[in-house]
Amino acid sequence: MAKTIGILTGGGDCPGLNAVIRGVVKGALLHRNWQVIGIEDGFDGLLDETKIRPLGLDDVRGILPRGGTILGTTNKGTPFSRVIEKDGKKEIVDVTDEVVRTIRKKGIDAIVVVGGEGSLAIALQLMQKGIPVVGVPKTIDNDLMETDVTFGYNTALETATDALDKLHSTAESHHRVMVMEVMGRYAGWIALESGISGGADVILIPEIPFTVEKICQAIDQRRRRGSRFSILVAAEGAFPSGGDRVVKSGASAGQPVERLGGIGDYVAARIATCLDMDTRVTVLGHLQRGGSPSTFDRCLGSRFGLKALELIEAEAYGQMACLRGTKIRSVAIEQAIRELKLVDPHGEMVQAAEELGIMVGR
Ligand code: F6P
Repeated sequence: MAKTIGILTGGGDCPGLNAVIRGVVKGALLHRNWQVIGIEDGFDGLLDETKIRPLGLDDVRGILPRGGTILGTTNKGTPFSRVIEKDGKKEIVDVTDEVVRTIRKKGIDAIVVVGGEGSLAIALQLMQKGIPVVGVPKTIDNDLMETDVTFGYNTALETATDALDKLHSTAESHHRVMVMEVMGRYAGWIALESGISGGADVILIPEIPFTVEKICQAIDQRRRRGSRFSILVAAEGAFPSGGDRVVKSGASAGQPVERLGGIGDYVAARIATCLDMDTRVTVLGHLQRGGSPSTFDRCLGSRFGLKALELIEAEAYGQMACLRGTKIRSVAIEQAIRELKLVDPHGEMVQAAEELGIMVGR
């Protein structure tokens, strides 16, 4: 049966989003004779009809190697608690009825929500309001359960590893401790995997609270063995044992999650004090979210997009595409968002790091 499906990208952008959009448009138009409607700026687009437009083959031509999302996105707020200004005052309102009305008015039969844990949670809430949704797991943080990996993560890792390679030469020339702060929110995947791949000497992740004295001992030991430089990778969510995470700003109505950042400076300052060594900090920041997607992310994003169509065809609403080994499968969104997928502090990957002589903060 002919269908009209909507697609939106929500939360922080990441490389590979355009591959998903292209996969959905191609699979729907070329193989199913369905129509695709693009919704701009995440769920916000469902509150403004000028942000809703049909997507044709021309719209997705040439977008595969492009980073970002042609549909735009936002990681601020949800239609269930939207901040509006009324009589000069800020108010929080639930505008989901308006969202549902727009979806029905546009004749959208189902929506593909491409997002991380936050956007997928909103998708599920919409489903409870009678809107058929399917999910595609996206995030550079790789912190979604029930999929071996999210798309976007691989490209972010490449960026972080490349940066570590570059930091090595300058660290060695100047006999410095180079601290590189990476994203990942409460999960240490980017730090751990790029740290192993980029030959880091110290890796700090949120799953293993660190002790500054032990980090200094490890760097000092290296120095005494003749390596007068060290490379430290700190996940933005890492924190000292008995201490707190370093945040730039807390959560608020307009910004549902706290903004992490600053752990690099925190650690570098303490190392400089205890070892009397020159330290420098690189915050990789949004470079990790930008750029052309890797081969892996282009392929995974495309396959996820096609899986989303298959799920709609089977009316398997509330399901999310996922990767299991080498196969694309699906799983209930509810299961995927029940908790974050974190690094196991005693798991194989951390053990591998330690066996390679990397200090992990404990
Ligand atoms: O979730 C993706 C992510 O890049 C996190 O790693 C990071 O903490 C956050 O988003 C940054 O968000 P923003 O783009 O709002 O600064």
